[in-house]
Amino acid sequence: MPRKQAKAAQQAAPTTAPLSIVILAAGQGKRMQSDIPKVLQPLAGMPMLAHVLGLAAKLTPASIHVVYGHGGERVRELFDDGRLRWSLQSDQLGTGDALHQAMPDIPDANQVLVLYGDVPLLLADTLRGLIARSGPGGVALLTARLADPSGYGRVVRDARGALRRIVEECDANPRQRLIREVNTGVLVASARFLKDWLARLKPRNAQREYYLTDILGMAVRQKLRIATVEAADAAEVQGVNDKLQLALAEAEYRRRRARALMGQGVTLIDPARIDVRGSINVGRDVLLDVNVVIDGPVELGDGVRVGPNCVLRNVSVGARTVLFANCVLQDAQIGSDCQIGPFTRMRPKVRIANGVHLGNFVEIKNSEIGAGSKVNHLSYVGDSQVGSAVNIGAGSITCNYDGANKWRTEIGDGAFIGSGAMLVAPVKIGDGATIGAGSTITSDAPAEKLTLGRSRQVTLEQWQRPRKNPSKS
Ligand code: UD1
Ligand code: CA
Repeated sequence: MPRKQAKAAQQAAPTTAPLSIVILAAGQGKRMQSDIPKVLQPLAGMPMLAHVLGLAAKLTPASIHVVYGHGGERVRELFDDGRLRWSLQSDQLGTGDALHQAMPDIPDANQVLVLYGDVPLLLADTLRGLIARSGPGGVALLTARLADPSGYGRVVRDARGALRRIVEECDANPRQRLIREVNTGVLVASARFLKDWLARLKPRNAQREYYLTDILGMAVRQKLRIATVEAADAAEVQGVNDKLQLALAEAEYRRRRARALMGQGVTLIDPARIDVRGSINVGRDVLLDVNVVIDGPVELGDGVRVGPNCVLRNVSVGARTVLFANCVLQDAQIGSDCQIGPFTRMRPKVRIANGVHLGNFVEIKNSEIGAGSKVNHLSYVGDSQVGSAVNIGAGSITCNYDGANKWRTEIGDGAFIGSGAMLVAPVKIGDGATIGAGSTITSDAPAEKLTLGRSRQVTLEQWQRPRKNPSKS
């Protein structure tokens, strides 16, 4: 085999040892200045730890272990699915001590991948590459070269470039602080070696902590081969220790998702001003204007246009439908060729058929609206079944709540509801019925008829406006 090929084969060689992933998530996160444990701080609307768990699951390991501690019961409650293995680190004595807690649960023959709960943006391919490089029984460390390495442990190499050890920033001398290659925290090693090394760690450093990073010096002394892999993209490995780094990670996540959308052909008016947090499926020629927030799961059909400042959570939108600015939509299925907004609000369980127009300050909740119907201005439609080709005038309200129970309103096909109508549920409006403007409707209105529920207009011929009494001025 030519040398180049042999090397590639060696690099890609699958390791035979079963993989256990340990996620260190017990740190207090003092630098966050928060009552929320660091790994529960939200990134893209999800706790940071959820990102790391998602990443771990992608590697389909034999087991996933989480080391929890400070405020950890909350962490455990949130993620305990019966499959994760949990290890409590009762005192936060450092990353080495943290990993040590999980080791009794891992067979010696396994290979261990260590992830940090506060390094949430890693990509699965990077980790696969790292695992491949470690080889069976070997050690591999993921490093990165940063323009500003401050806060990270530095990778110290000898004159020939071989790794010697990692030195934490607070223990580093001024020369070491200039090193720009940093430890990302992510490493792979065999469980057998780790158990030995971790048992021998000493907290001899500025922070009096058991540093996981000290095991690399031990591996060097044992003359083990240590592979280092430099992350191609430094943004991927950023640690999140404080609110500034949290915001930077959020920005990186935002960039990533925006780039992926554009790769699928979506037009983004400004990729820096869009937040895609949950899953999204898009058709062709979709356009998203600025400050759209996609909480997901969201589906947008061909030619859908989403105006500025729309927030979508669990929404599907049919082809060619336009959402004008400032729509806040949740749990809604919207048909094709609709015009929605500006300022339309949909709350849970909304189904909108094709060709519907919903306008300014219209709120729809737990209702179905039939094809071609229009609710153009300032209306509330709740717990209702609205037929097709219905027109609901400005300022109409389905009065669905009597203070104790919710009641349904049914409006038949082709009905016309005049402006300012109060439809007091439970109530049925027949097909083709017309309801006079300003009516309060408390009983069913028959099909095809005009129903009015308002007092007659009177004009008082003799009436005069009161005048000021001159003696009292
Ligand atoms: C650590 C590394 C540093 C690296 C950086 C990368 C050590 C000693 N230092 O520093 O070399 O550049 O990460 O982001 O490992 N944790 C526990 N128990 C503890 C302490 C920490 O579970 O007792 C967990 C934290 O929840 C966190 C992770 O370990 O998820 C890292 O801890 P942190 O204190 O943030 O370490 P850094 O100072 O960032
Ligand atoms: Ca950290």
